[in-house]
Amino acid sequence: MSTTIKIRGEKSFALVWSLKRPWSFSIYFALDSIYVYVFIAIICVLIGVIMKKTNGEKEKCDTKSKHPSRPWVDEDLKDSTDHPLEEEEGGEEWQGLEENVAHVPFTGERYSEAEMIKRSQTFYELLNKRRSVRFLSDEPVPREVIDNVIRTAGTSPSGAHTEPWTFVVVQDPYLKHKIREIVEEEEEINYKKRMGDRWVNDLKRLRTNWIKEYLDTAPYLILIFKQVYGRLPNGKKKTHYYNEISVSIACGILLAALQNAGLCTVTSTPLNCGPQLRVLLQRPANEKLLLLLPVGYPKEDATVPALRRKPLEDIMVVI
Ligand SMILES: Cc1cc2nc3c(=O)[nH]c(=O)nc-3n(C[C@H](O)[C@H](O)[C@H](O)COP(=O)(O)O)c2cc1C
Repeated sequence: MSTTIKIRGEKSFALVWSLKRPWSFSIYFALDSIYVYVFIAIICVLIGVIMKKTNGEKEKCDTKSKHPSRPWVDEDLKDSTDHPLEEEEGGEEWQGLEENVAHVPFTGERYSEAEMIKRSQTFYELLNKRRSVRFLSDEPVPREVIDNVIRTAGTSPSGAHTEPWTFVVVQDPYLKHKIREIVEEEEEINYKKRMGDRWVNDLKRLRTNWIKEYLDTAPYLILIFKQVYGRLPNGKKKTHYYNEISVSIACGILLAALQNAGLCTVTSTPLNCGPQLRVLLQRPANEKLLLLLPVGYPKEDATVPALRRKPLEDIMVVI
């Protein structure tokens, strides 16, 4: 009641004020109309909407900083074969990995500076002799050597120690031939249709084509699969962080180990053969073929292209 009187009082005051100033009459009547209340209501709603939006954006920023984007989903590394874990399967859930791993003292090998220089030079010279050899003999290779080089590859570092690799060693002649059939069929299409003129032209100097005799002759084919995810004891998917980089590093170590053992290979990436080879070798769906390495001794008449490697000053920047 008192509020009404006050409002009326203010209104009367405004009326008297307006009567004294005829120019303001029109303003008074405009203000007094119902539209002014509608106008004020609209302004209030608009202010409310703007404030809510601003708060929402702030909240979003806060959430982002509290839960940073998952670092293992590196946009640059995504490829068509990647299998991101579905939210409900992995996501933010605890992965079930052992939390309490003992930390033990570590002492690395220590050499004199002269010895270090000698060892690094010798290792470089050994690896500098590595070549991709596409002509491999069928001379048998001891299985123990293959076991050892794969053991060595298994020493590779891996994202969060997930060891996301499977090395499939094929020695069965029938399976090797089946692999050859699959690879040659796909590679012929690759060369003729998929790769395009530039790629085929770039390969001319290497004299490669879709005929892969080494897939029959090499005593071993090692097919390296990246496990795009693993399985937890409860059957749920386990994230394999940076699985492609991890497996690629393991492959590099494997190449070095083969070279150290006096064996040859050619790093091959048979385009579009992965799914068929995975099925042929009965590998599970979480495994994707990364590389195929035929392993053996070079044929007596083997040749390699006379390629030159970039000198140190072209590949190293010291800051
Ligand atoms: C990722 C990758 C994929 C390759 N794919 C093939 C391939 O499919 N077929 C092939 O004959 N060589 C392949 N190579 C071998 C390269 O042609 C070879 O490494 C390059 O010509 C250098 O020769 P080098 O290995 O004798 O130093 C590949 C190498 C890499 C690193």
